[in-house]
Amino acid sequence: MLDISDAEFVSLRDLIRDRFGIWYDDQKRFLLLSRLSTRLAKRGIETYGAYVRFLTYDARREEEWTDLASALSNNETYFFRERAQLKALAAHILDEFLKRSSRVRLWSAACSSGEEPYSLAMTLLETQKIADPLLSIRATDISPRVLELADKGFYRALSFRATEPAMIQRWFRAEGEGFSIDQRVKRLVSFGRLNLLDSPRVAAEGPFDAIFCRNVLIYFDKPTQKRVVESFAKALRPGGYLFLGHAESLFHLTDLYEPIVGADAIVYRLKAPVPA
Ligand SMILES: C[S@@+](CC[C@H](N)C(=O)[O-])C[C@H]1O[C@@H](n2cnc3c(N)ncnc32)[C@H](O)[C@@H]1O
Repeated sequence: MLDISDAEFVSLRDLIRDRFGIWYDDQKRFLLLSRLSTRLAKRGIETYGAYVRFLTYDARREEEWTDLASALSNNETYFFRERAQLKALAAHILDEFLKRSSRVRLWSAACSSGEEPYSLAMTLLETQKIADPLLSIRATDISPRVLELADKGFYRALSFRATEPAMIQRWFRAEGEGFSIDQRVKRLVSFGRLNLLDSPRVAAEGPFDAIFCRNVLIYFDKPTQKRVVESFAKALRPGGYLFLGHAESLFHLTDLYEPIVGADAIVYRLKAPVPA
C-alpha cells in the first residue's frame, strides 16, 4: 500500500468530511487508504499529495468526486431491515398521515441499492389502506453505483435475508440467479442523486410525511449529524416522522423532534413550531 504522511491523511479526511460528511478517524486510516487506493490506480496518480491536489484543483475533479462517492460509501442494506419500524409505520403511523391527507409521500434519504424504499412500498401496499396512485416514495443516495442497481431492481439472495418467502412470491419475479422487483412496487419509487449535506436541496425535496435516514448518520461526525437532521425538519410536514437506524439517536443532537417509543422501535416526530 502507498505511504501517506499524517498531513496528507488529515487533508484528505477533512476534504471528504466537508464534501460527504463521512468521517474517518485515526482508527479508520487503513480503511480509508484501501478504499482510496483503487481511485489513485484508476487515475494513474502515484502519491496521496498529488491526489489531494487533483481533488482540489484539477479540471476533472467533479467527475472524481462522483466516483469517490461510490468508492467510499458502505452500502450494506437488505429488504425489511429493522422490521419493527416498518410494522409501526403500517399499524399506526400511516393512519395519522391518512387523517391529514389521502396522499402520502415518504423519503428514503440514503437508499443504497433500493431495498429500503421498495420495502416501504411493499409494506404500505400490503396494508391496503392506501391506493397506489396516492402513495409516492422518493429515494436518493450519493453513490451513482448503487442508484444504478436500485433502478435495475434486480436482487440476489443476500438482499432477502430478512424477507418472508410469501413476500418474495407476491412482489418479485424469479429471473436467473435472483429476483426482479414487480412493476407495481417499482413505479411508486423515484430515484435520484442527492448529497445529504446539500441543505437547500434537502429542504426543496419536501414536504414529506416521513423521512427514513437509517444507517448513514453513524458514518458522520456530530456536527454533520446535527446539520442533516435539522435540515430534514424543513423537508417534513408539521408532525412528520424521522426514522433512524437502531444504532443512531437524536439524544444530545437536537430538540426539534420528540422520541416516540413503541414496541421494539423508536421513531422521532417533528415537534410543533414554537409560536413566535
Ligand atoms: C449502510 S447504507 C444504508 C442503506 C439503508 N438506509 C439501510 O438502512 O439499509 C448507507 C448509505 O448512505 C449513503 N451515503 C453516505 N453518505 C451520504 C451523503 N452524504 N448523502 C447521501 N447518501 C450518503 C451511502 O452511499 C450508502 O448507500
